Amino acid sequence: MERAGAGSSARPLVSDARPLDGRRALVTGAATGIGRATAVRLASEGASVSVNYIGDRAPADAVVAEIEERGSTAVAVEADVAVEADVQRLLRESAAALGGAVDLLVNNAGVESSYPLEEMPLDEWERVLSVNLTGPFLCTREMVRGLGDSPAAVVMVSSVHETIPWPSFSHYCASKGGLKLFAQTIARELAPRGVRVALVAPGAILTPINRALMKDPAKLREQEEQIPLGRLGTPEEIAGAIAWLAGPGAEYVVGSTLFVDGGMTLYPRFV
Ligand code: NAI
Ligand code: BGC
Repeated sequence: MERAGAGSSARPLVSDARPLDGRRALVTGAATGIGRATAVRLASEGASVSVNYIGDRAPADAVVAEIEERGSTAVAVEADVAVEADVQRLLRESAAALGGAVDLLVNNAGVESSYPLEEMPLDEWERVLSVNLTGPFLCTREMVRGLGDSPAAVVMVSSVHETIPWPSFSHYCASKGGLKLFAQTIARELAPRGVRVALVAPGAILTPINRALMKDPAKLREQEEQIPLGRLGTPEEIAGAIAWLAGPGAEYVVGSTLFVDGGMTLYPRFV
């Protein structure tokens, strides 16, 4: 690491400290996709990480193993983010395993499905709203309850669909649009006590949520045409943005959405 000249009393030009050293992070839905890449990235920047998952434990254990192999601390905790008692246990178990209250929360877990309005079943509407909107509410509330006076950061994984209407995904768009205004509102509430809230809005990313798209060359090409960069993004590209928003470089960022979308929100097909 480059430093000031030997024998100099000047401060080091570059510190060995990593941006997230000492932070205790919880990433929801962290066994796959963007959540997985984010857990690994936060750990590589110094955080210890709680890897939340639902269902099959093996992928979450693999994320924990990957983090531990790189010399950081991680724990896998199963919880349904839409269930209050699960979330309360998730925050308790994360704090116990990481050695103190969670002070970096990434609300990433999310689901989607496709139904035109007149075919949308109520239970599917409620499932998407519960996971994508009630989940971040419960997780953030429980994190803040456990914090005391400590500073913290919350990053919501929103979507370009917090602003772009998407036919046949009205529940998903409602959840992400709702997430945006929820985040902005609590950003105002929490900033005075040192808790920063911000959002990352990915465009189309190569993850399991886009499984069907990735298997359909015609649809994939159509999607790529909606993106000025001409390609889908990677989970790692989103993880980098999340880590920055959660870290010291973004100390003055409050309530903003950072779009990471290859230019999708520039509406390339317009005129
Ligand atoms: P993914 O399907 O790999 O990740 C979603 C994760 O959430 C999965 O690990 C899943 O098990 C977990 N999950 C689902 N329900 C849960 C629940 N009730 N409790 C706890 N965990 C639960 O897909 P991806 O793409 O990584 O999605 C992550 C987030 O990124 C989602 O919020 C999604 O809406 C958002 N997003 C994804 C984009 C993409 O193109 N892949 C674009 C914009 C936003
Ligand atoms: C959805 C993806 C979609 C992307 C761009 C995301 O919110 O989860 O399925 O490809 O938006 O439309």
